[in-house]
Amino acid sequence: MNRNEIRQYVLRSRMSMPPDRVKEKSKIIMEKIMASDVYRKAQSLMVYVDFRNEAGTGSLIVRALEEGKRVSVPITGIKEKKLTPSELLDYPGDLEPGAWGILEPGKSSIRPVDPMTLDMVIVPGVAFDPGGNRLGYGGGFYDRFLPGTRPGTVYLAPAFEVQMVDNVFPGPLDVPVHLVFTEERVIAAGIKKV
Ligand SMILES: Nc1ncnc2c1ncn2[C@@H]1O[C@H](COP(=O)(O)OP(=O)(O)OP(=O)(O)O)[C@@H](O)[C@H]1O
Ligand SMILES: [Mg+2]
Repeated sequence: MNRNEIRQYVLRSRMSMPPDRVKEKSKIIMEKIMASDVYRKAQSLMVYVDFRNEAGTGSLIVRALEEGKRVSVPITGIKEKKLTPSELLDYPGDLEPGAWGILEPGKSSIRPVDPMTLDMVIVPGVAFDPGGNRLGYGGGFYDRFLPGTRPGTVYLAPAFEVQMVDNVFPGPLDVPVHLVFTEERVIAAGIKKV
């Protein structure tokens, strides 16, 4: 399978998961993330807002805000292919449908955050391999965004086992994640960022 075939195949498998399953597995994944050292140490994190049966981040967003962490969510600039982190104060009150129907801060709730201040980025994706390599929806949004963070910033991807493949055939611009958390395991890709 090439990258596009992997995308289609994995998206189809993920979309065929019933809502209860998605909820149940998301809960397991988010609990594991919130119990991890890297999460506990992170003071400022950017978290995607899930859509299309991605692992649901709602419980983590709520908890992180309660714990006093600084939580940002991405605003998608379709034309510039750019993600801008925006500080979230009220969840879900600050959010309304934006690019592709993904929830993002409404006009009156936009509070840009400098990517260099992020300790952790919780990254969405379509498919991942054991090396932490990531296949997204094909826009290169995260591949453009992640290099603008600090060298110590941890990239963590929640994913369901159906999203794990042997090889996503990454290219030179694809930015891997350091950790993948699934409902069954934690994959520490051990990648050193340059
Ligand atoms: N840092 C970059 N600068 C310029 N173009 C880039 C960069 N990263 C990726 N691209 C381009 O963006 C396009 C899509 O990349 P790719 O197929 O890796 O998307 P993706 O990782 O699936 O998407 P996303 O990151 O939005 O989830 C490719 O043409 C790629 O060359
Ligand atoms: Mg990519």
